[in-house]
Amino acid sequence: MATLIFNNKKFDYPVNKDLFVLQKDTGIFIASSCYKQGLCKECVIKIDKGSEFLNEPTEYENHLKPPYRLACQTKIVQEEAIVECSTLKRDEIVIEEHSTDSFIRKNISLNPAVTKDIKNNVFLVKEQVGNTKNSILGLAIDIGTTTVVLKLIDLSQAIVIKSISFENPQRFAGSNVMSRIHFDSNDNTKQLKRILNSHIYNAIRKMTENTQDVYDVLIAGNTTMRDIYFGIDVTTVG
Ligand code: FES
Repeated sequence: MATLIFNNKKFDYPVNKDLFVLQKDTGIFIASSCYKQGLCKECVIKIDKGSEFLNEPTEYENHLKPPYRLACQTKIVQEEAIVECSTLKRDEIVIEEHSTDSFIRKNISLNPAVTKDIKNNVFLVKEQVGNTKNSILGLAIDIGTTTVVLKLIDLSQAIVIKSISFENPQRFAGSNVMSRIHFDSNDNTKQLKRILNSHIYNAIRKMTENTQDVYDVLIAGNTTMRDIYFGIDVTTVG
């Protein structure tokens, strides 16, 4: 048995068992959309101490440099070892409830592209795009190089329902814009886009079960963050 300190939580951890399974029953969230096949590259973790007690990086980790590893490929290989690691979030996702954060009170007109009539039909301009008894929702997403912020908005009442912020999970490719451009320009699998997409998707699921009622999304970011997110070549930006 070894000792694993993951996101400051301490566990007795068996050797030769991948670190991805740790999230079961521990409340630790590790992003994934391939479930341990090494393909999605989303389960990136940072090894803070004890990398010498881990298995060698596998072929699925060629894109990563120390101290980063894929949780699904990483195992402690020495009994009694002490290993410390963390997911890429500085802190757990912060969820704020802002039920009184009204745009109307601030004299801000939302003027959403979608509207709902008294029969609950939802229209995009004049075209019907849905029908719901629930509030029609909008999302505002600010993709910063360091932090990503999402706000879920009730478009009918012009109220911010919830906010979530988390560290931009692209950090493994460097903390500044130039290193992200360099990474993305040499990566035709578009891992930066995929890992961010996965985290945004999970954040949305944490904010609402009614994802089908999200009709309008506004995304803002600097040129690099925006283009990486939309899969646009950023080589010339650098
Ligand atoms: S879970 Fe997909 S690469 Fe690790």
